[in-house]
Amino acid sequence: MAQMTDRMKELFEKVGAVALGTSTLDGTPNVVPVGAKKIIDDETILISDQFLNKTLSNMKSNPRVSVTYWEGHEGYQLKGTITIETSGTRYEETAQWIEDLGAKAGFPLKSKGAVILKIEEIYGVAPGPGAGKQLA
Ligand SMILES: Cc1cc2nc3c(=O)[nH]c(=O)nc-3n(C[C@H](O)[C@H](O)[C@H](O)COP(=O)(O)O)c2cc1C
Repeated sequence: MAQMTDRMKELFEKVGAVALGTSTLDGTPNVVPVGAKKIIDDETILISDQFLNKTLSNMKSNPRVSVTYWEGHEGYQLKGTITIETSGTRYEETAQWIEDLGAKAGFPLKSKGAVILKIEEIYGVAPGPGAGKQLA
């Protein structure tokens, strides 16, 4: 497992959306923006699935994913393996959070599942000499 620093967590929470990359088993890539995201602990993040389609299908056959986020020239890339929870406390809490979010936004939103990413590797994506360097 790899652990996010306080700064990595701070930026993750600050950005409006992150890029979630998945791929089919035969290697066709897919990247989508996701905004319903949370930090569970230093090595675990959660993404709520409201609309995931090709992404969900990819994750079911290939649970290895990548999440990239940035602001200005600072950014990080997380790689790891996901599990999907569609029942239990964590899912129920996610469902409530998303329902509340929808109520605030003025349109109904429903979480179909909580995607839990266990982070195994972290890379920097800032341009410059350290670009792409493994940080954890
Ligand atoms: C700014 C933004 C934020 C989004 N956030 C989420 C999200 O948190 N959860 C989700 O399921 N879909 C979210 N979507 C929708 C997905 O990006 C995408 O439309 C969906 O996964 C279907 O694409 P796919 O078939 O490639 O998976 C968001 C879209 C945008 C533009």
